[in-house]
Amino acid sequence: MSNVHPATPENIARAAEILRAGGLVAFPTETVYGLGAHALDPRAVRKIFQAKDRPSWDPLIVHVTGLAMARTLARELPAALAARFWPGPLTLVLPKLPRVPAEVTAGRSTVALRVPRHPVAAALLAAAQLPIAAPSANRFRCPSPTTAAHVREDLGDRVDWILDAGPTPVGVESTVLDLTQTPPAILRPGGVSREELAAVLGAVALAPGVEDEVAARGLAGPGMSAKHYAPRARLEVFEDDRQLQARERALRQQGKRVGVLVPAAPTLFAEIRRLDATGVDVILCVLPAATGIGLAVRDRLQRAATA
Ligand code: TXA
Ligand code: MG
Repeated sequence: MSNVHPATPENIARAAEILRAGGLVAFPTETVYGLGAHALDPRAVRKIFQAKDRPSWDPLIVHVTGLAMARTLARELPAALAARFWPGPLTLVLPKLPRVPAEVTAGRSTVALRVPRHPVAAALLAAAQLPIAAPSANRFRCPSPTTAAHVREDLGDRVDWILDAGPTPVGVESTVLDLTQTPPAILRPGGVSREELAAVLGAVALAPGVEDEVAARGLAGPGMSAKHYAPRARLEVFEDDRQLQARERALRQQGKRVGVLVPAAPTLFAEIRRLDATGVDVILCVLPAATGIGLAVRDRLQRAATA
């Protein structure tokens, strides 16, 4: 029997029970599907790392019901920033309180928090009444899942319960903002744009984050560099259409099977998976401008293209 269940009130209540009992639940957020566990239960949190094949030093985002629950996990929460962007695709990195297990934060003194806007994620948090640690519900380094079918493909029965509410609307992950740096620094561009943050905060830096450490550590092993969000086919990115067309002609002359990806945030990861499943050798893509959500889309494409 499949572990994919429509996100009805009964199935959300069942998912909340599974979380409370220390199990794994995949659920939709407005960005991508998350693989959730009880954030204050170290055994449950360790299951996330096992299910994803994720290295234990890569910290998780904790999803909370709102500012009040956030205050039980972190210090120095900026109320005005939270009021402006929560619920929504903004993750705040703050000094953690002692009750947050080291498994969640990979031993760091900070914790990443966000309040999701998706009604199913909100209903699950409300039913469970506990903070939910959840990375994207994909295998480590694969494109993030934007449908329940993607989760099923990647994780199969490694997850106890998958709540299905159709495709996720934003399509790229949350913006990770480190508030322990001055000025605050974007560690990962995402669903809230740099421009929106700058309008509230003034100065905002763009800093390397954990995902850059993944690449730098070359986790794929000797001789291979680490990729993130990567399809099986080679992905090549271009700044303009003319360059892409020239490359496409050359590849076709060599007898290669070529797919062209038209990038838009809501369909980005689904399109990468779809093109990959057609069996093409190479996927070509023109990068969007680095403004608004385009910054996040460029970031994911460039990581996926790292050869
Ligand atoms: O939209 C999202 O953020 C999705 C949904 C499920 O909420 N979650 C997600 O989680 O993308 P994940 O694990 O795939 O990415 C979490 C990223 C890490 O790669 C890291 O960059 C950052 O969040 N992060 C988490 N805790 C951190 C910390 N204490 N300090 C710095 N960065 C942290
Ligand atoms: Mg991820």
